[in-house]
Amino acid sequence: MDTVDAAEPLVIFIFGVTGDLTRKKLMPALFSLYLNERLSEFRIVGFARREWSQEHFRDQVREMIANVGGASEEQRNRFVQSVVYLQSTFEDPAGYEKLREHAAGFPNRIYYLSTPPGAYEEVIRSLGEHGLARSDTGYVRIIVEKPFGRDLASAQSLNSLLQSCFDESQIYRIDHYLGKETVQNLMMLRFGNGIFEPVWNNRYVDHVQITVAENAGVGTRGNYYERAGALRDMIQNHTFQLLAITAMEPPNDTSPDSIRDEKVKIIRSLDPVTHREPDRHVVRAQYSAGVVDGSEVAGYLTEDGVDPESQTETYAALRLYLDSWRWAGVPFVLRTGKRLSRKATEISVHFKHPPLHFFGPAGSPLQRNVLSIRIQPQEGITLNVNAKIPGYATAVRPVSMDFAYGSAFGPAVPEAYERLLFDAMKGDNTLYTRNDEIEASWSFINRILDHWSTQDGPLPQYAAGSAGPDEARGLLADGDRRWRRV
Ligand SMILES: NC(=O)c1ccc[n+]([C@@H]2O[C@H](COP(=O)([O-])OP(=O)(O)OC[C@H]3O[C@@H](n4cnc5c(N)ncnc54)[C@H](OP(=O)(O)O)[C@@H]3O)[C@@H](O)[C@H]2O)c1
Repeated sequence: MDTVDAAEPLVIFIFGVTGDLTRKKLMPALFSLYLNERLSEFRIVGFARREWSQEHFRDQVREMIANVGGASEEQRNRFVQSVVYLQSTFEDPAGYEKLREHAAGFPNRIYYLSTPPGAYEEVIRSLGEHGLARSDTGYVRIIVEKPFGRDLASAQSLNSLLQSCFDESQIYRIDHYLGKETVQNLMMLRFGNGIFEPVWNNRYVDHVQITVAENAGVGTRGNYYERAGALRDMIQNHTFQLLAITAMEPPNDTSPDSIRDEKVKIIRSLDPVTHREPDRHVVRAQYSAGVVDGSEVAGYLTEDGVDPESQTETYAALRLYLDSWRWAGVPFVLRTGKRLSRKATEISVHFKHPPLHFFGPAGSPLQRNVLSIRIQPQEGITLNVNAKIPGYATAVRPVSMDFAYGSAFGPAVPEAYERLLFDAMKGDNTLYTRNDEIEASWSFINRILDHWSTQDGPLPQYAAGSAGPDEARGLLADGDRRWRRV
């Protein structure tokens, strides 16, 4: 069992502790780590602006962990007794002096920046200026939430500020997709089995689809989303990370830098044709009013906080090529969107047809073999193969070979944030994004954003609850290639 004994006692500072992410993800993840005996000598200090008393904060924490099952009342009480509220603004130097007092007696420190992105720089600079970025007695690490920059220049400036206060080894840029079990299992699938790697290349693979679909709209975050859009919010980070893990070469070993070296090579090998000819290879669109899960929902342009003439895309699809011997000529098509028919994240590898087709009536196409890796919901892996329908005739039907995490290992798959927090406590940053990966992906995405900034006029629309805009079909219009059903 992995332990973090050497890393304790530990104090975790959450900047932005009264926010949504702490409530939904961070506090439940920390409580689960505590229940699983991954945290014993620890304190959690929540830093935020609201005038909350300690009692009120602890009541709030009790609510935040209410849905984590399998805990006794005593365990809940002990966890809640370990949290402390530090009321201050990020701009007030006194807040950092109070922070120092809270850190006393704890050789190891983790700072979690769960703040609005506009506050990252203030907090990082202040930690540096107050001498809180280093410790002589233990480790100091900083976890930075997404978004990491909104273009190449802002990502570079954030990286250089971070690196002026912390060493790269202390910096953990989170992309919670990498904490998902199935994403890690993709590496196990590829490199822990002998049968996949030989066919994982342009001789056998026709194309690869990566889908990150949401059925939710922008909700109350219209203001934030207006400045982001699907390309920034989903493609530059999560979807590119999935692409890198799907396409990377086998690393020399499983050390963090060996894996991250291979991932960054994939992003650097992206063929510039996609951003040189964005109108051929990239599609963007916005959702209009429609029906999702049986309820009528508004279109993007009438959501709260959204400019009625907004040009922010809620859907983006890209056709990418990799300049490498392994992948030359194989399209990787990526798509993401809000208000699609359902929530689903999936990587699917579509194999070439066999060279001859003897089965079935003349002209009837065989289905391609598809290996699909479902990241959410119902994490698992399915391989579609063609099978003979029992009977006297020779008729073919695709069937699937399924592996579902839930049925193979039981339902207790750890939450992504839990795994990633634990890795940060152990000092393992394999599943965090390195500065060069982030800058390489921004450098590519920036060129598409630059092109869009020269365009005017309304964006194509797709009905909420649909599979996305018709325009995206063209990205896969070759032969029998089709998008998988969302
Ligand atoms: N929410 C999610 O599901 C989600 C998912 C992925 C990534 N993220 C990222 O995680 C980060 C946090 O998101 P969130 O949704 O939790 O944000 P949020 O709900 O807006 O919370 C922001 C937090 O920052 C505090 N804060 C803001 N300005 C401050 C200041 N000047 N001084 C002191 N405290 C200040 C707020 O304190 P008060 O409220 O007390 O003023 C609050 O605790 C963001 O970078 C976001 O992009 C969020």
